[in-house]
Amino acid sequence: ASIVHVLGARPNFVKAAPVIEALRAGGADQAVVHTGQHYDERMSEIFFQELGLPEPDVNLGVGSGGHAAQTAALMIGLEQEFTTRSPALVIVYGDVNSTIAAALVAAKLHIPVAHVEAGLRSFDMTMPEEVNRRLTDQLSDLCLVTSPEAIGHLAAEGIAVERAHFVGNPMIDTLLKNLDAFDTAKVRAAHGLPERYVLATLHRPANVDHPETAATLVKALHGVADLAEVVIPVHPRGRANLLAAGLDEHAGVHVLEPLGYIDFVAAVRGAAAVVTDSGGLQEETTILGVPCLTVRPNTERPITITHGTNRLVTFGDLVPETRKALDAGQAATTRKPPLWDGHAGPRIAEVVMEFLGD
Ligand code: UD1
Repeated sequence: ASIVHVLGARPNFVKAAPVIEALRAGGADQAVVHTGQHYDERMSEIFFQELGLPEPDVNLGVGSGGHAAQTAALMIGLEQEFTTRSPALVIVYGDVNSTIAAALVAAKLHIPVAHVEAGLRSFDMTMPEEVNRRLTDQLSDLCLVTSPEAIGHLAAEGIAVERAHFVGNPMIDTLLKNLDAFDTAKVRAAHGLPERYVLATLHRPANVDHPETAATLVKALHGVADLAEVVIPVHPRGRANLLAAGLDEHAGVHVLEPLGYIDFVAAVRGAAAVVTDSGGLQEETTILGVPCLTVRPNTERPITITHGTNRLVTFGDLVPETRKALDAGQAATTRKPPLWDGHAGPRIAEVVMEFLGD
């Protein structure tokens, strides 16, 4: 295939679906390499089914591991794959370990790289994702940008402006395309959710990897549960520490398995507020108008604060900020960030086809 998409983790699947669809419509010859970074049925397969993604041409089955072991295994598998397929372009998504591994391998094989969601910066190098983002952009021939400030970040790092293309946000393409499928009543019934609830998702290493930090976070979440019931689909990463800290010992906390894409966004849509440390969810709540409290000291997505419903909170002010958000309610209208309009996929396809000379 002339284009190889490298997908590894849950958010990659959501971003790639509209790009693959638009390239298919343009008649591109493409293949999907799944690295296997995420492998549970609920973390991977269900997304492929719900998003209409093509069955991966290959799954490298890399799985979990420390950063070095995982990235190394990703690189070894991808080198073999790129060598046999010899694509004209590799497309990578977001900021996960599969993203940087693919970009690094492709660059060394002199295969051009396109990075979807380039130029976002938290300026916090303690986040593995920030390391992945910066290095991937340095190695990318096409930096496909979701938010205007990203172009300035790329320029400041010496990346030629001709490489940067402001195309909009493909994750929002997927959201808008599936809007009619997000049935809050159905997801409430299926998962026994209360009428009014705060939806929480927490999986950042900085929040869940250390038992003591996880315990402080759980205490804050119990404070939130005193205000409104808390529904929390638990990412496998934080499960052990959050449960060990007594997450489900408050009667107002409902712990769920990870949800598929449709059920998850339906649950977000019906939430009185969201508490999260996810990147994508800051963007999805911006479009849905659901108040979002992001439990992080920084965000690489500041446009969700200036245009959307997002706000950064500490563990200490989570409860009062949630109270404020609950009082204010869902926003009837938010200012939509520019080009978060459902047409990023076709714009990306256009830039890619032009790059390939088709
Ligand atoms: C990864 C990304 C993160 C992204 C997140 C989305 C990196 C460095 N991090 O984090 O940016 O926000 O995906 O979900 O790439 N596990 C399972 N089943 C799975 C996948 C993971 O049980 O299908 C467990 C394993 O115990 C594993 C841990 O989760 O060790 C972490 O998985 P990993 O892919 O390394 O990172 P995430 O925390 O998922």
